[in-house]
Amino acid sequence: MDDKFVELFQDFRAKEEELIPLLQHVQNVEGFISETAMKRIASFLNIPESKVFSVATFYAQFRFAPIGKKHIMLCRGTACHVKNAPKILDEIENQINIKAGETREDLEYSLETVACIGACSLAPCIVINDEVKANLTTKAVKKIFRDDRKKNG
Ligand code: FES
Repeated sequence: MDDKFVELFQDFRAKEEELIPLLQHVQNVEGFISETAMKRIASFLNIPESKVFSVATFYAQFRFAPIGKKHIMLCRGTACHVKNAPKILDEIENQINIKAGETREDLEYSLETVACIGACSLAPCIVINDEVKANLTTKAVKKIFRDDRKKNG
């Protein structure tokens, strides 16, 4: 086992019930759960890789690709949904050329949909890193990414 994982797992006791806490810990430290991490967790806990994989993919909280420099979370809660969130999602996907759940190859952007972010009066909304963008329209989305492209030259 390489050092990175020895260090990552050092506070765990190699008990099967630690599977979810281990996955959470790896994601907190690494930003996502790689295939290697899943294999290491399986051998650390002495359980089949398929079990780690099926548990990890069952929970929406786990991510399997690194996040981009700008991580976009689109709210798919009810208030946002009825105020056009699906159209906003389409527009964002168009603008950055990836689908929800993906990270762009240049690691500039990643996109995910999340449950209500608690800002329903501002629906529809997204969060880019820690910044909430509220009352969005497709036009506003176009502007956000146009401005971003300008900023990045
Ligand atoms: S439903 Fe989107 S913030 Fe609550």
